[in-house]
Amino acid sequence: VFGSDVDASQSVASEIAALIRQRAAEGESCVLGLATGSTPVRVYRELIRIHREENLSMKHVVTFNLDEYFPMQPDAAQSYVRFMNEQLFDHVDIPRSSIHIPDGTIGRDGVDEYCQQYEDAINVAGGIDLQLLGIGRTGHVGFNEPGSEVDSATRLVELCDITRSDAANDFGGLDNTPELAITMGVGTILRSRRIRLLAFGQHKSAIVARSVQGEITDSVPATYLQGHDDVQFALDSAAASTLD
Ligand code: F6R
Repeated sequence: VFGSDVDASQSVASEIAALIRQRAAEGESCVLGLATGSTPVRVYRELIRIHREENLSMKHVVTFNLDEYFPMQPDAAQSYVRFMNEQLFDHVDIPRSSIHIPDGTIGRDGVDEYCQQYEDAINVAGGIDLQLLGIGRTGHVGFNEPGSEVDSATRLVELCDITRSDAANDFGGLDNTPELAITMGVGTILRSRRIRLLAFGQHKSAIVARSVQGEITDSVPATYLQGHDDVQFALDSAAASTLD
């Protein structure tokens, strides 16, 4: 638990920077799983600062984003491709060919095969070294909504009403908000070697407490993280306020 969201974000960004340097020293690429939404923005800002001011090369970083709305054009205002470009990729030296974000333009017919290819690409890259997560009010990680199975893989999912209403402002109302998304699965996330979940603000405190201290259940998919042996939640005091 950190004094502020800024402190929490700086701590996680420093850990990521150290991991990138360590993997580079070993002659290996560093595979990062990345999240969108409001929560990780300060981590990305700090990584950009470290890249610029402390000469962090990200040339050997490979990234896999958790999710994307479906359907979604990459240049749309709400696309996660656009978000990642604006928040991180346009400001660092990760090669474009090393960046992977689920493709919201894939036709419905090809989506299952596409999702399998996304899983394969993660495996070919050597698996995810560190997965960054936020958490939704439903307890989703990625877009693994309640009911998601512990061994679920990358797939097309339906978004919950709560998740859609949380996104509705960005889409100019609920009617325009996508009902579907492509997301890495819970199983995909749990295979990451380290998991760092960030949550800030009072509105996240109830779901954080259930995720950390509640019984493991598919009705709160973030509780599955309790079964991982290298997971940390980086919280501000408001998000931690419901913990015992
Ligand atoms: C985003 C994602 C989601 C968000 C979650 C929290 O890629 O996978 O699980 O992390 O919905 O969103 P914010 O950070 O906007 O509260």
